[in-house]
Amino acid sequence: MENNAAIIISKALVQDLNNCISVISPEQLFVLTDTSSREYCLPLIRKCPALASAKVFSMRSGDDFKNLDTVVDVWTFLGENGGTRQSMLINLGGGVVTDLGGFVANTFKRGIRYINIPTTLLSMVDAAVGGKTGINFRQLKNEIGVINPAEKVLICSEFLRTLDKENLLSGYAEMLKHGLLKSQEELHRLASFDINRPDYDLLSDLIGTSVAVKEAIVAVDPTEKGIRKALNLGHTIGHAFESLSHTQKRPILHGYAVAYGLIGELYLSYKCQGFPQDEMIRLCRFISENYGRFEIDCDDYPALYELMAHDKKNRHAGEINCTLLSDVGQIVTDCIIEKEQIFKALDFYRDTVGI
Ligand code: GLY
Repeated sequence: MENNAAIIISKALVQDLNNCISVISPEQLFVLTDTSSREYCLPLIRKCPALASAKVFSMRSGDDFKNLDTVVDVWTFLGENGGTRQSMLINLGGGVVTDLGGFVANTFKRGIRYINIPTTLLSMVDAAVGGKTGINFRQLKNEIGVINPAEKVLICSEFLRTLDKENLLSGYAEMLKHGLLKSQEELHRLASFDINRPDYDLLSDLIGTSVAVKEAIVAVDPTEKGIRKALNLGHTIGHAFESLSHTQKRPILHGYAVAYGLIGELYLSYKCQGFPQDEMIRLCRFISENYGRFEIDCDDYPALYELMAHDKKNRHAGEINCTLLSDVGQIVTDCIIEKEQIFKALDFYRDTVGI
């Protein structure tokens, strides 16, 4: 382990965590987890000597509980158990726990230090890294929050051994996005990985490279004024699919929506920015083979378009603003996309996945 690195790909989690806590030496230590991570993941770090006197708060699992009520419960727990500005919070769980726990830590006593230990692939390669924290508010996702990174993020692929295949694929979609942002070589490495029979050591290497892509972008633009928008690749169409899937009560996981969004946005990249057709076809085939499909028909296009037009990433109301690529690793932010092009991208998505 490199002691100075903020993000540690750990092969010895208990020891690395113990070192991190000893160096920071907080006055009190708290652990935030959720019901499922408490059962499956907490036992993996419980032997850490520095955690002996830590107080554990367990929130209910799921995005429905990423709200102000839970934040109040955690603030109260910290306050009633002697939390001070020198306390530290360890967030152990998926994106809900690291987002909400990061927000709690950044606001309690105007900010205490925190460590993220992500336990899902999605949180390892995205949510727990880059400092975005927050909660849902009045039906709007991540409406309230702050950007301020964890003191350390400890990433350990051991947790992935108990993760179901759908959640593994969900996180893998963000890794494909990072591969597209980085290089052809990395993209091909990702597209040839056998996700059905994962080699966890190789996966750990791939995660390391993937996280480094995000880390490098966030280092340049932590508050998303410019190049951090690259990380929105696949998310304009993807978020619309995700929202539609929830309103139609046939929910899909975030990463599946991103994977389908990548199909549409690679098509837009090809049409509007000259992205190579062979690369587009190769990756779209990988996505279709591994992620199946989310059924849509032409009647869904207006609703999907409206969702994209109201995306909070747009600069002006009603104007769809996308990140595209002119080649693998060649990023073009702030592309304005017309309705007709969006509909063609949705046609292409349906052709690709066989609808
Ligand atoms: N999830 C995209 C970002 O952190 O900017």
